[in-house]
This record gives sequence, structure tokens and C-alpha cells, in this order.
Amino acid sequence: MFERININENQVDKLSFTFDGKVVSAYQGDTVAAALLGAGYKCFRETPVLGLNRNPYCMMGSCYDCLVSIGGRNVQSCMVECEQGMVVERVSHTKLTGIRPHEVS
Ligand code: FES
Repeated sequence: MFERININENQVDKLSFTFDGKVVSAYQGDTVAAALLGAGYKCFRETPVLGLNRNPYCMMGSCYDCLVSIGGRNVQSCMVECEQGMVVERVSHTKLTGIRPHEVS
């Protein structure tokens, strides 16, 4: 659905950050969502009730499907510009509770 436009890699600075502990490369000016999509990630968060995977949809701050945790705060990754060394984590009900939502009775 989303595709990075061609850029001249020699004219843009690169940086890196981590997503769930894995290093992700980005270009200066990328949003976190763009960088994660460019790196091939398909799940940015899990829904709190059913634990379904979600990834960016609108890329303009309306849908909240791109929600991630940065520095312990849940933010829309399509609205945050990448910074060198930032720590980004998937928003996961399972990670918080150890229980998959659909397993709760
Ligand atoms: S992709 Fe919709 S709010 Fe970020």
C-alpha cells in the first residue's frame, strides 16, 4: 500500500533507532511510521480487546492505527519525526499483561 519515493541517498543523512530492540535505519526527515514501513514492519500495535495487529492507515494523524510507544508515551508514529537513538516499542496488550486479550474469559 505505501511505497517510498526514490531519493538520492547521497543527499540525505541517515540515522537509526530501535523498534522492540531491533535497529531500524531511517532518513533524516522520515516519520517513525515511514521508517518502520520502509523497514517492512506490518504490526505497530495490537488492539486492546482482540489483540489484532494494526499498522498505519491514514499517515496524517487521524486514525491512531500507527500508535507506538516512544519514551514510555503512546504517540502516533506518523506524526513524529525520527531522531537518532530513539527507543520505539510496539503497543501491545500482551506485553503489558502477558495475556492475549482473546484468552481473557
Ligand atoms: S496512520 Fe493514522 S494516525 Fe498515524
